[in-house]
Amino acid sequence: MKSRAIRIDRNGGPEELKLVEVEVGEPGPGEIRIRHHAVGLNFIDTYQRSGLYPFAMPLQLGMEAAGVVEAVGEGVTHLKAGDRAAYASQPPGAYCDLRVMPARNVCKLPDAISFETGAAMMLKGLTAQYLLKKTLPAEGLQPGDHILFHAAAGGVGLIACQWAKALGLKLIGTAGTDAKCQLALDHGAAHCINYTKDNFAQRVKEITGGKGVKVAYDSVGKDTWEGSLDCLRPFGLLAVFGNGSGPVPPVNMGLLASKGSLYMTRPTLFTHMATRESTQAMADDLFAVVQNGAVKIPIDQRYALADVQQAHRDLEARKTTGCTILTLQ
Ligand SMILES: NC(=O)c1ccc[n+]([C@@H]2O[C@H](COP(=O)([O-])OP(=O)(O)OC[C@H]3O[C@@H](n4cnc5c(N)ncnc54)[C@H](OP(=O)(O)O)[C@@H]3O)[C@@H](O)[C@H]2O)c1
Repeated sequence: MKSRAIRIDRNGGPEELKLVEVEVGEPGPGEIRIRHHAVGLNFIDTYQRSGLYPFAMPLQLGMEAAGVVEAVGEGVTHLKAGDRAAYASQPPGAYCDLRVMPARNVCKLPDAISFETGAAMMLKGLTAQYLLKKTLPAEGLQPGDHILFHAAAGGVGLIACQWAKALGLKLIGTAGTDAKCQLALDHGAAHCINYTKDNFAQRVKEITGGKGVKVAYDSVGKDTWEGSLDCLRPFGLLAVFGNGSGPVPPVNMGLLASKGSLYMTRPTLFTHMATRESTQAMADDLFAVVQNGAVKIPIDQRYALADVQQAHRDLEARKTTGCTILTLQ
């Protein structure tokens, strides 16, 4: 069987993304073959393309999609041919019509959730899930607590705004324009700071009456991590989970002492999804908030698979908001 796919032969800019035809075989033990209906675009795809996260070449990109299972390999019991399914999964390879892949991180998609929503929400929604539910200060988070969430109008950001509100948390977002700040507020952020204009650490202190937040969720990295430390109350937690502006340089641990016995972590979704059981438990939590309407998945951009270069350009130029999908007609 043949499939269209997007592949790179070497690391570089969006121009390295090439539309090719690949051969797709039968699933082996623990694998499935899935025909995609929509594919999710994620910032991590740009790190894999540029080489910030190294992989062997050639590399078929993409970590998130939804579609219909066509065949299952030996030992796969949670899926069968004909099932609607969605996933956030390693290894990369989701930018295609059809693929064979490990079944472990693939979940049945509830009938009430469309393929497009499934493709947009798995990687970003499961990330919001483990951040807000499992990446916590020692005393946990209680309703009424303030948290800081950078890039609040992005894909992970707009899901986190809604989910935090549903948990009773007061999310202080940051975003690069006033229009993006308004979008974050419309999705449940209690406050949103335009960090290209205002000093966000100072504003966070004002908003919290000088106390600071218990957790700062920082996916922007290089440009923000030090300011994020200044937003924390004593014993607060900085969770750096991305490199939007570049990776955080080696850290002087003494800073954590002088700024109030702080904690710092660098989590990744795939540690949380190490087992089939943990993946399903997280997905069930996400499916529940999407189905009860607490979290709506904002698909703000759609690109044809063949236009993936433009999709990467727009994502890296901060032109997108919410989630982006690649369509396969
Ligand atoms: N560790 C994990 O488990 C995990 C999982 C998923 C995602 N992530 C990370 O979470 C972040 C959000 O992912 P996403 O796919 O939803 O992307 P996104 O938030 O939709 O896009 C990234 C946003 O980062 C902000 N940004 C700030 N400085 C930037 C710069 N110099 N260049 C480009 N963007 C900049 C931009 O928003 P403003 O214009 O508003 O600043 C931009 O829209 C990414 O850093 C991603 O790597 C981590």
